[in-house]
Amino acid sequence: MLRVDVLTLFPEFIEQCSATGVVGRARERGLLSLHCWNPRDYSQGNYRRVDERPFGGGPGMVMLIEPLRACLAAVREAAEPAPVIYLSPQGERLTQRIVRELAQAPRLILLCGRYEGIDERLIATQVDREISIGDYVLSGGELAAAVVIDAVGRLQDGALHHADSAIQDSFEDGLLDCPHYTRPEVDGEDAVPEVLLSGDHRAIARWRRQQSLGRTWLRRPDLLARASLSDADRALLADFQRQWLGRHRIAGK
Ligand code: ADE
Repeated sequence: MLRVDVLTLFPEFIEQCSATGVVGRARERGLLSLHCWNPRDYSQGNYRRVDERPFGGGPGMVMLIEPLRACLAAVREAAEPAPVIYLSPQGERLTQRIVRELAQAPRLILLCGRYEGIDERLIATQVDREISIGDYVLSGGELAAAVVIDAVGRLQDGALHHADSAIQDSFEDGLLDCPHYTRPEVDGEDAVPEVLLSGDHRAIARWRRQQSLGRTWLRRPDLLARASLSDADRALLADFQRQWLGRHRIAGK
């Protein structure tokens, strides 16, 4: 059971992103609870300001300390202590390893920025961890928060139909996933790889492992370099490489 609190100027967006599919079902089953908080409800004055122009000039607006601090205080008080995670392009890059770690916490507090960002003093005093979902800039942290909620939500016990499907995911062992096929057995010229129809479970597992290794070699050599491979893996990969190079007589690989 994981409780996620999200501070956002767009609570409906977070709600909608997390209403359907695996994460929606996890919420219905009580495996994940989601609570949105709007800093605008904690702002002062008639205008309910949440942002101001940056000191030193420049484009865009910066989110004010005060509404965020008041909102965070209310969030903290609502349940047990939890890390405050600020979604921003300046954070450490989200990986499946970090997702696994976050998924084990009883509670997470996600802070979404808008505009050019948040006053640095709020980040320095209130934020425990800054996370980026990739090297590109979004117009706010909401999409990134929705990504985190999805990735941690599906790892809650009972969220997936098969407990194994999370273990078999891409990245769980540092490799990309193998290809998947379903009916029909033949689609035009394209037949499903024969081994998958053989009923030989060891041969199927071997083929899948080889495809994972081969795809990671082709598409993400950076991951392959960091993966710990057994002797059997190395043999499977060498075999894949021989076959692939036989089919694609091109330089570079
Ligand atoms: N907010 C804006 N861009 C972001 C990114 N790449 N990751 C996380 N939060 C963000």
